[in-house]
Amino acid sequence: NKIPNQLLVIFGASGDLTERKLIPALFNLFQGKHLSPRFTVLGVSRSTGDDASFRERMVLKNKFIPQTIGNFGLRKEFSERVFYHDLGDSYDTDYGPLKDRILALDADQGVAGNVIFYFSTPPSLYGTIAKNLHARGLLEELDSYRRLIVEKPFGYDLESARELNRELQQYCEESQIYRIDHYLGKETVQNLLVTRFANSIFEPLWNRNYIRHVEITNAESEGVGKRGGYYERSGALRDMFQNHLLQIVSLVVMEPPIGPQPEEIRNEKVKALKSLRVMTDPKVLFSHTIRGQYLAGSCNGEQAVGYREEEGVDPQSTTETYAAIKFYVDNWRWSGVPFYVRTAKRMPTKVTEVVIHFKTPHHQIFRGSGMEQYDNKLIIRIQPNEGMAIKFGVKVPGQGFEVARANLDFYYSDLGQVTVMEPYERLLLDAMNGDATLYARADEVEAAWKFVDPILKYWQHGEDVVTYGYSSGMWGPKNADELIEGDFGWRNPGEH
Ligand code: BG6
Repeated sequence: NKIPNQLLVIFGASGDLTERKLIPALFNLFQGKHLSPRFTVLGVSRSTGDDASFRERMVLKNKFIPQTIGNFGLRKEFSERVFYHDLGDSYDTDYGPLKDRILALDADQGVAGNVIFYFSTPPSLYGTIAKNLHARGLLEELDSYRRLIVEKPFGYDLESARELNRELQQYCEESQIYRIDHYLGKETVQNLLVTRFANSIFEPLWNRNYIRHVEITNAESEGVGKRGGYYERSGALRDMFQNHLLQIVSLVVMEPPIGPQPEEIRNEKVKALKSLRVMTDPKVLFSHTIRGQYLAGSCNGEQAVGYREEEGVDPQSTTETYAAIKFYVDNWRWSGVPFYVRTAKRMPTKVTEVVIHFKTPHHQIFRGSGMEQYDNKLIIRIQPNEGMAIKFGVKVPGQGFEVARANLDFYYSDLGQVTVMEPYERLLLDAMNGDATLYARADEVEAAWKFVDPILKYWQHGEDVVTYGYSSGMWGPKNADELIEGDFGWRNPGEH
């Protein structure tokens, strides 16, 4: 097992993320024997508690870990690797006692001084935590390593993201910082790299000469649920677009890296993000960005309340739960190719897909036979039914040359009994291994914000901005259809 012995310290340990994602992911890794034998977890937060109560809530009774009789022994064994430290009233305090606890655990459990600090608190605390860790020398790498994993949102806008980067970099090196984006942990997102750069049939066509437009849809049928308070300050653009969707965009847009090394890949992603045409003209922003908010309706056969009726949401709120953006990429490869990206809650279904629409042949000898309505498409299904499909024309048997559409389909499930790791499992393992390929670098995050910032500002202050209502369970506001009308409209992701 090449994962070094190490301690994972989770700040914000009594929160939802620890219970829902982090501990279940660690348990699965433990079960799959991916962790080093002495791997240890220390939960840290302001809630009173001790090892026993933390173990019970997070492992022994955590409903996000299958509670079967069969795995009781393993849960018990794993729980013994989990500890808790109560920080007191504030995160801004002397971390002397925390340091003592870390040193004691290091001595007892033998983690060789390697520590990863996971920041699962509100981002406003990141700087404070880093400052206090630094004050006690806990970020110094001597013979062992010290890393920080920080959760999203990474900044609220460009300025705050820069400030956060500056703050963290005051206390440690950029190479110690791992900014997590769970979409990069998805197999199908990583497969974008393999599709493009391990095959010879796609890349030659992957440019303005052959691609007519690119469409990316991220739809969820769920509403904001209990996260209304958070979502009010965020909205779809910050919650999904700035991070997850622009990460997907960067993988679609990037040039081939010279090798698979983290910095080579991340350098290309940064270049890709820097080439997105920043929209500043209000007229362009008006016509290229659509903002929507769900109204009451019926979703998956159930009555759903409107966004403004959700818990923690201002009844007058104009926060968007739908965002559709049309933009261009100003570089040699993509010049003139429109990109359409949409993300929304309370859609008819949950689906994320990338659709590459190829141009129709320059000279169509089968004109009039139905071919021109079918452009060739490459569909990359990020989720669910993970896989890929190519749409192409075939001759309908019989006289003449009537063309019909056919599909070449690949589903990940075709690979048989493969266990697909959950994003958090893959990403945690990578951080433990010191592999930052699937983590966002400071300049990458800033480049993404640079593109998003003027849209946010325009949506906040623009005179003609409208937040269009759409019924829950529908595919968003009509105006978003107009955005892409010239390019045949949005693909219905439910359609085969
Ligand atoms: C999170 C957002 O980052 O991603 C949520 O905060 C969203 O609002 C979620 O629901 C979607 O993730 P996934 O993996 O279910 O597509």
